[in-house]
Amino acid sequence: MATNRTFTMIKPDAVEAGNIGGILNMITEAGFKIVSLKLTQLTKADAEQFYAVHNARPFFGELVEFMTRGPIVAAILEKDNAVEAFRTLIGATNPADAAEGTIRKKYAKSIGENAVHGSDSDENAAIEGAFHFAGREQF
Ligand code: CMP
Repeated sequence: MATNRTFTMIKPDAVEAGNIGGILNMITEAGFKIVSLKLTQLTKADAEQFYAVHNARPFFGELVEFMTRGPIVAAILEKDNAVEAFRTLIGATNPADAAEGTIRKKYAKSIGENAVHGSDSDENAAIEGAFHFAGREQF
């Protein structure tokens, strides 16, 4: 059964471009409640662990370099069917394929620098949320 929470990061490209406010606004306008929120920066070890599933991909080094180059915003979001609803809101991984009205259509630059992360399953949402937030930081 789908749970009602997902995890997101606003990635370094979108933070650098001054788009934290615009992206958080799209998220809350779409009916997500923010239950955890912080500005933080991933270490190389954090990024390698977070993206371990991609470690055999040719873009892995580039991905780790990108995700550690500046601050990110980490957040846990709540809404019915949150994982699927949020992936619809962010749009396709490649912004060239992202639908009108999605966060990536508006803010992403490329398949690598694609502005936002959204968990791909309830299981990963729980793992990724716990990676960044203690229980007392989840409201
Ligand atoms: P996301 O889906 O959030 O998590 C995996 C990330 O890997 C993805 O966003 C992109 O940032 C990155 N990625 C996926 N495919 C490519 C690619 N072909 N080249 C570079 N980066 C990629």
